[in-house]
Amino acid sequence: MEPPARKKTGPLMKAVTATRMRDMALGALGAMIGAWAAPFGSAMLGALAGVLASGGLRLAMPKGNWLGEGERLAARPHKRDRPQEREQAVLESLPLAFLMLDEGAQVTFCSTDAHALLVRDPVGQHISAVFRAPAVLAAVNRSLSGETRDETFEFTALRPRTRHLRATIRVPGREKRVVLALQDVSQVHRLDAMRMDFVANASHELRTPLAAISGMVETLQGPARNDTANRDRFLGIITREVARMARLVDDLLSLSRIELQANVTPTAQEDLRPIVAEAVGATASLAAENGNDIHVDLGEGALIVRGDRDELLQIFHNLISNAIKYGGADQPIEILRKAQPEGWIGIAVRDHGEGIDPTLVPRLTERFFRVNKRESISRGGTGLGLAIVKHILTRHRGELQITSTVGEGSSFTVRLPTP
Ligand SMILES: Nc1ncnc2c1ncn2[C@@H]1O[C@H](COP(=O)(O)OP(=O)(O)OP(=O)(O)O)[C@@H](O)[C@H]1O
Ligand SMILES: [Mg+2]
Repeated sequence: MEPPARKKTGPLMKAVTATRMRDMALGALGAMIGAWAAPFGSAMLGALAGVLASGGLRLAMPKGNWLGEGERLAARPHKRDRPQEREQAVLESLPLAFLMLDEGAQVTFCSTDAHALLVRDPVGQHISAVFRAPAVLAAVNRSLSGETRDETFEFTALRPRTRHLRATIRVPGREKRVVLALQDVSQVHRLDAMRMDFVANASHELRTPLAAISGMVETLQGPARNDTANRDRFLGIITREVARMARLVDDLLSLSRIELQANVTPTAQEDLRPIVAEAVGATASLAAENGNDIHVDLGEGALIVRGDRDELLQIFHNLISNAIKYGGADQPIEILRKAQPEGWIGIAVRDHGEGIDPTLVPRLTERFFRVNKRESISRGGTGLGLAIVKHILTRHRGELQITSTVGEGSSFTVRLPTP
């Protein structure tokens, strides 16, 4: 009996067998791009490959000269019977935001990722109607007139929502067409703004106690030199402010240490039961002073998680201190096990204080955010406690859930995965 007829091996399949597994998929993709883009000539692909390689668009693509492979295969006789739509669909679905423009600056092609950045389909439209930013039109005109062949710049797109886009414009070969690749860099801008905010906030937080200390020292050196009664009062204030600065620096160091280890998941196995007990013990005198009874009910059995003991202790210490500081005098505080889906452990620290305005809840874990700054400072708070908790939990692949009802109290649930 004859063996079943094997499928005819086309040029694409031949290329597949010649490359390793990783390059196989990419090569095939490249081939399809090549086939589809044949009418543009290989220069167009070269320009797109150039945009990719330039880092104008950074992709988590495996290594492999896939565009080169595409061009090589495209150089072979073009099969007219290949359904063009299929290949165009592949090109459109590349994880890249790019447009191609003809010599009249009209859009001839738009990838799916580029569509996501635009209000409506740009194909057939003049580039000035697609992006209102004058910088885009000017750069496209420069490229089409031959003044520049490769340009990268940033501009702000206002619709469908405000975004910072980085555009790279390339002219393929000698053609009078351009490839316009886009990258959304809004997140980078946001991070830059956050970094600047952080430095400004940290400096401000340090300057306030510093100003108080230097004022007191000047007074002690001058008018209060012989004023024994006030001298003790001023020295008391200096001691308090120095302690505040020391706490702030400790918290900042703690935060940066945890951030540096953000990608290193702790490996030790820890039982949360003794950790919670230790945190309760460490805050017992503060709770007694404020008249808070702390009820702990963690159910039966060990509560094992993968974690760093000191950092887990820091989480519960801050949450219980917060419940004492902001949960109202003489109000009970509960530490309870919360039911979780399989593979998770949840422990809630609940208070019966004033609660938090729901619009402010998402901001609680921001660095230096306090609902009431004066109250927090008067209680020795730096506003970094919950930011540290969040970072520790991120490193532990866990999370913090906050629920609060104004007039009833707040509940902070620590969720951690089991080993
Ligand atoms: N249980 C709570 N009830 C009401 N408000 C809270 C509670 N916990 C935190 N907050 C609010 O969130 C803010 C941030 O808390 P966070 O623990 O980050 O800082 P802090 O307690 O002010 O300072 P630190 O923890 O560094 O001593 C607090 O200033 C407070 O306004
Ligand atoms: Mg705190």
